[in-house]
Amino acid sequence: MAYGFIQTWRRGGLEISTDPRRLPLRRVHALLAGTYWAEAIPLAVVRRAVKNSLNFGLYDTSQTGAAALAGFARIISDYATFAYLCDVVIAPESRGRGWGKWLMECVLVHPQLQQLRRWYLATLDAQPLYARFGFIPVPEPERHMEIRRSGLYRDAEFLHRWLAARGEVLTAHRPSR
Ligand SMILES: CC(C)(COP(=O)(O)OP(=O)(O)OC[C@H]1O[C@@H](n2cnc3c(N)ncnc32)[C@H](O)[C@@H]1OP(=O)(O)O)[C@@H](O)C(=O)NCCC(=O)NCCS
Repeated sequence: MAYGFIQTWRRGGLEISTDPRRLPLRRVHALLAGTYWAEAIPLAVVRRAVKNSLNFGLYDTSQTGAAALAGFARIISDYATFAYLCDVVIAPESRGRGWGKWLMECVLVHPQLQQLRRWYLATLDAQPLYARFGFIPVPEPERHMEIRRSGLYRDAEFLHRWLAARGEVLTAHRPSR
């Protein structure tokens, strides 16, 4: 959820906003579906993730409509002790212009994300990007554990089960009494 109030930053023709109503969901989905970690992610999963996160949309105001969304990042947090930074992506055609760094700057100065005990993220190869903002490799990895479900979105049954578990789709057959 977008905690507290909507935050906006402007730089030249760019804007970063935490307004969830402004986010073109299908464009967010398209950007994420092009990444190595969320390939084949269903739109319904992105919708729910966005609904329950603090979202940062980066908009190129020289573009119109959904194409204006040139970058995205998402925070999962209790706003008191911990924040998980994920789904950081800049549109392929807009990479290498410093937009990702500005997105990180804005995320890290968000007023509701100050004085947290821990920030966390996972990345394949963008460590140098995050290192400039103070992230370090987990010093004692043996203290950290996870449940990882790689390839989840490639499971044909996954979406049906995912929706059904949330009561969003009725099972096809309801036994008669
Ligand atoms: C990673 C990403 C968000 C960076 O955004 P960007 O706008 O292209 O990056 P910027 O122009 O702001 O510069 C990023 C800086 O980090 C460095 N960097 C380190 N690892 C990098 C990586 N894997 N990808 C991009 N930049 C990287 C760049 O060299 C650059 O440093 P410099 O300013 O000293 O040259 C973007 O390239 C992207 O969306 N990549 C695909 C998705 C992805 O890997 N996301 C991160 C997952 S954790």
